[in-house]
Amino acid sequence: MQQELTKKKREIVDIFLKSGVLVSSEMLKEINDDEQISRIFELLKSKQIDDTLMADFDPSKLIKEPKTQKTETKTTPELSVKVTYSYREESKKRDPLDFVDYFNNRYKAIEKILKQRQELKNTVSINKIISKREKENTAIIGIVSDKQVTKNGNLLILLEDPTGRRKVLVNKNKPSLFNDAKDIVLDEVIGVVGVNVDTLVFANNIFWPDTPANKDLRKADEEKYALFLSDMHVGSSKFLPDDFEKFLKWVNGEIGNEQQKRISKNIEYIFIAGDLVDGCGIYPEQDKELITKDIHQQYKECADLLKQIPQHIPLIICPGNHDALRLSEPQPVLSKYFSKPMYELNNAVMVSNPASVNIHSSDSFAGFDVLMYHGYSFDYFVAEVDSLRSQGGYDRADLIMKFLLKRRHLAPSHLSTLHIPDTKKDPLVIEKVPDFFLSGHIHKSITANYRNTTLICGSCWQSKTLFQEKVGHNPEPSRVPIVNLQTRDIKILKFGQ
Ligand SMILES: [Fe+2]
Repeated sequence: MQQELTKKKREIVDIFLKSGVLVSSEMLKEINDDEQISRIFELLKSKQIDDTLMADFDPSKLIKEPKTQKTETKTTPELSVKVTYSYREESKKRDPLDFVDYFNNRYKAIEKILKQRQELKNTVSINKIISKREKENTAIIGIVSDKQVTKNGNLLILLEDPTGRRKVLVNKNKPSLFNDAKDIVLDEVIGVVGVNVDTLVFANNIFWPDTPANKDLRKADEEKYALFLSDMHVGSSKFLPDDFEKFLKWVNGEIGNEQQKRISKNIEYIFIAGDLVDGCGIYPEQDKELITKDIHQQYKECADLLKQIPQHIPLIICPGNHDALRLSEPQPVLSKYFSKPMYELNNAVMVSNPASVNIHSSDSFAGFDVLMYHGYSFDYFVAEVDSLRSQGGYDRADLIMKFLLKRRHLAPSHLSTLHIPDTKKDPLVIEKVPDFFLSGHIHKSITANYRNTTLICGSCWQSKTLFQEKVGHNPEPSRVPIVNLQTRDIKILKFGQ
């Protein structure tokens, strides 16, 4: 019997080791019976602990959970939530040259998407057209390294690929093309079809990677709901505890009309898109607007609130710019040091910012892909892109999200956020078109459909701060967008004024 137990313990150690998790001897000592062993094997077999989750996994939790919770464990979040992308690179010293790899990777990733277009199948590299002087049709793909308006009012774009640079002229006498081109931002990757004359390409058409027009509107076969929160800002004196309390009552089925109660009963997933707490030192004189000045305590209070959400509902949580970790994107998962109480929530699935998760998949259904991005780059594009500003700016987060989807990048301009120059890939490229694209940051909820991707910007749980007053944000707190996964209908429930 003892021999059998030792053998099984060895097998467990091997399985964890393969995934880079060292099981401590203390933990092994705690495994005393067959029931604990089969519980671990069961979880490993059911892939509740897959490779992506392994690095954060604390094996001792499995052993310590009381046996009475055995049934509940089978419905833990990992069963229905698969983390398909969450940044986990170790922190390390970065070199300026890393940015070269980073931009080359971005170029290659978006070039691949652009080349799926018929018009860009036969592009040439820029060094091949530089020597040509005669007029000829040409198609090129490049990163925008400069954009200017000429004396005559035309647009002059400098495109760069790994082989060289070429100026592209967009004539103002082609109004539709010119209008589209006005939205071009630095560092994005575009395709241009035009005529090569002397040192210029005269653009006839410009292509963005965009999302396919024929994407399926996936639907689940049962009435289940996903709910989208963001920007709780716990710790701020402007946090709205009464509104959040109302939300908690509703989510627990204690308040609401019949229809609202039916929805709350069928909530399967809750996403939280960053800014769980207000943080410390995020903007000038923030301390005057903090009711809880200690960051550990802020997370403790946040966890105390989230604990009141029924535990069978997974909480998929990414950080935002107010959370206690680096600003550079991708931001890793919430810090275990600062936000320990959050990690003690049984139903929390921590992911990076940005992150991709797949929910609700089954043998017969591919599930829904959800892209989460807090939205730090949004400020830059509201400030820099006239068309976004003129159509509502901060009040139209859906247009900003559409703008980014069209570019297949979450922060196409280098100055739009702080980047960690990853040398293997550009993690902010939107490689796979999601079913849901969730953001926050703007503090005003809005939803829209763009080519069958549902765009959702979460609301907030904080009234207007002095800083927001200065920068022109118009928060609309205490709204909760909810998606019926069977019909893809969206409702925004209001829990405050
Ligand atoms: Fe926020």
